[in-house]
Amino acid sequence: MAIVTAKAHKGDVKDFSLAAVGRQRIEWAERDMPVLRAIRERFATEKPLAGMRMSACLHVTAETANLARTLKAGGADLVLCASNPLSTQDDVAASMVQDYGIPVFAIKGEDEHSYYRHITAALQHLPNVTMDDGADLVSAMIFIALDRLDDLHAEVRAWASKLGPADRKALVANVVASMEETTTGVIRLRAMEKDGVLKLPVIAVNDAQTKHFFDNRYGTGQSTIDGIIRATDTLLAGRQMIVCGYGWCGKGVALRARGMGSHVIITEVDPIRALEAVMDGFQVKTIAEAAPLGDIFVTVTGDIHVIRGEHFVAMKDGAMICNSGHFNVELALDELGQLAASVNTGVREFVDEYVLKNGHRLYVLGEGRLINLAAAHGHPASVMDMSFAAQALATEWSVRHTSKLEHKVHQVPKAVDEFVASLKLQTMGISLDKLTTEQQKYLQSWEMGT
Ligand SMILES: NC(=O)c1ccc[n+]([C@@H]2O[C@H](COP(=O)([O-])OP(=O)(O)OC[C@H]3O[C@@H](n4cnc5c(N)ncnc54)[C@H](O)[C@@H]3O)[C@@H](O)[C@H]2O)c1
Repeated sequence: MAIVTAKAHKGDVKDFSLAAVGRQRIEWAERDMPVLRAIRERFATEKPLAGMRMSACLHVTAETANLARTLKAGGADLVLCASNPLSTQDDVAASMVQDYGIPVFAIKGEDEHSYYRHITAALQHLPNVTMDDGADLVSAMIFIALDRLDDLHAEVRAWASKLGPADRKALVANVVASMEETTTGVIRLRAMEKDGVLKLPVIAVNDAQTKHFFDNRYGTGQSTIDGIIRATDTLLAGRQMIVCGYGWCGKGVALRARGMGSHVIITEVDPIRALEAVMDGFQVKTIAEAAPLGDIFVTVTGDIHVIRGEHFVAMKDGAMICNSGHFNVELALDELGQLAASVNTGVREFVDEYVLKNGHRLYVLGEGRLINLAAAHGHPASVMDMSFAAQALATEWSVRHTSKLEHKVHQVPKAVDEFVASLKLQTMGISLDKLTTEQQKYLQSWEMGT
């Protein structure tokens, strides 16, 4: 199989003249990523990823650029493609290629063909290590290894169909470790494991506590509100905000919306999460009950068709609807399109107006793609510092333990999590108490009572 080396191409970005602005943004983000910076400095000396061909499919943001610099400093031969057609920061992509020599395949607003052409480019790199945000890269590899070419997008299929059977299997067999960044990706990979088709070891970086406790909650919380405001300039105070899903992301969105003065209603399918929302002081209703009440709707469930036709028709005139879950399937936009008498796309950037037959105008933000990355800049660097420190260290750990890793979804080792948390606290100037000898003994014993 012909190997397209990273050095053989520069990637595919929108415009290299944007590189100077992109570089400023990468450097600005880096100021708030001290943990990742410390790891990069060590990687530059120790080169733990030397000899590894690596393909990453991530949101192409300033924070991701700093992760990519870290992996490259560690010796990885890295290429990067987008994990969403709307989340790429074109200036950052240009700078990554021009200033940091990292091939990037990503253009903001690219169509599905371009998106999958770029995924194909990442596959053509024939990686030993992959890093995904949503499992698009790994799922394409698995379909290829299983000879299920009809399940691939046409762009990937066109390339895969030229590979012989041995090369198709080798594509997956060559991968010694695969990192996954988000909840939706981990769900897909666990489903592959359950179906017995996961042919490579995966590290569920999303499940590290230093990732989802902070990134999903505080990162998605703040940046989703930021995306809604940038897209609409709307006032949140006094508005009814419906948050579908009270998981890590939903908790963050609800918390921040309440902080801005919104009245927040939660919809859930899990009784424990619903109860948690009630005890946290939110109203909990079904989406059918909430539909006529909401001014702003946000889905963050990782599920499909959470808001459907019957809910759209019940909504108020002027309701705004967006998604911050991984895929653009949480809103049944096909049904909304069929219900609409007319659709005015781009009434402002990232806002499409659907005029229903009852005259109500509904506003869909960011085409139903994750609003925090479509209309805003994604999570702040300070929180990505932890997620991407966990990514870099999980990559190092998995490359060091390749012979022991079974083809299943693995947790990030606790030691990695604790190291990231300790270093983050240290960079914040925060010290912790240490257990005394007496306390250590007490916490390990059962003899002492009242
Ligand atoms: N926007 C971002 O930058 C960003 C960041 C991290 C994660 N994500 C994505 O956000 C989504 C949620 O992630 P999470 O970590 O909060 O997951 P989670 O599993 O902690 O929470 C999801 C919640 O949604 C609920 N849910 C499922 N179906 C529902 C339905 N039909 N109606 C109402 N609630 C429903 C579940 O019961 C669960 O409580 C995933 O797709 C994840 O990949 C996005």
